Amino acid sequence: KVEPILKGKNIVITAGPTRERIDPVRYLTNFSSGKMGYAIAEEAEKLGANVILISGPVAIDPPKNVQFVAIESAAQMFEATLQYFEEADIVIKTAAVADYRPATILENKMKKSDEELILKLERTNDILSELGKRKTHQFLVGFAAETDNVEEYAKKKLQKKNADMIVANDVTTAGAGFGTDTNVVTIFKRNNEKVTLPMMSKHRVAVELLKEVNECLKKGW
Ligand code: PMT
Repeated sequence: KVEPILKGKNIVITAGPTRERIDPVRYLTNFSSGKMGYAIAEEAEKLGANVILISGPVAIDPPKNVQFVAIESAAQMFEATLQYFEEADIVIKTAAVADYRPATILENKMKKSDEELILKLERTNDILSELGKRKTHQFLVGFAAETDNVEEYAKKKLQKKNADMIVANDVTTAGAGFGTDTNVVTIFKRNNEKVTLPMMSKHRVAVELLKEVNECLKKGW
């Protein structure tokens, strides 16, 4: 029987990719399947938490007994996350959010020509950084998908975004990162502790991560 270690905790989880529209038929996105974030949502619910899952468009069904908020763009994810932030005890940002979006969304389908095409992009809001600025009591977990210098970049993100934990996955490792059923992660905490996990299912990663978060909360982080 599972001990409900997160009973009574409000936990907001973001998952999946965002879509940034170019015109009515095209968009920019990434390879996130939602599996990692959905696994965290499902395991958090089993551990007794009240779960709000804010998700970009994915092909999998949301777990049972979670409050599901469907969004499309980074701007919509930003808005939805802020809406639930104050009430949250824990926020886990698993989503792969677009860093850039087309500067204008065309009303009509873009016509091709023989010329090369340059798409002007503008920055989206960094949701995690904004939450880091606003946080009062919330425990803030970010993810970092890296291809090189994983530890260095993860530690920088921890500081720059004022997070309590960063879960780094080296997306060049087989069985880790986007689309897979497994992941290989290292958890970096604000107090300089580091937990390296071997390859395991995303559900197992979710349980280990939630236990780590709970341990931090118990210590009065
Ligand atoms: O969905 P899956 O197929 O299971 O894949 C899981 C995953 C690889 C997407 C996941 O494990 C993961 O690593 N998610 C974060 C990917 C990412 O976009 O990392 P990043 O380094 O760009 O962003 C760092 C952190 O800032 C993330 O917590 C991200 O949610 C957040 N962020 C990024 C940009 C932005 N505009 N706002 C944000 O809040």
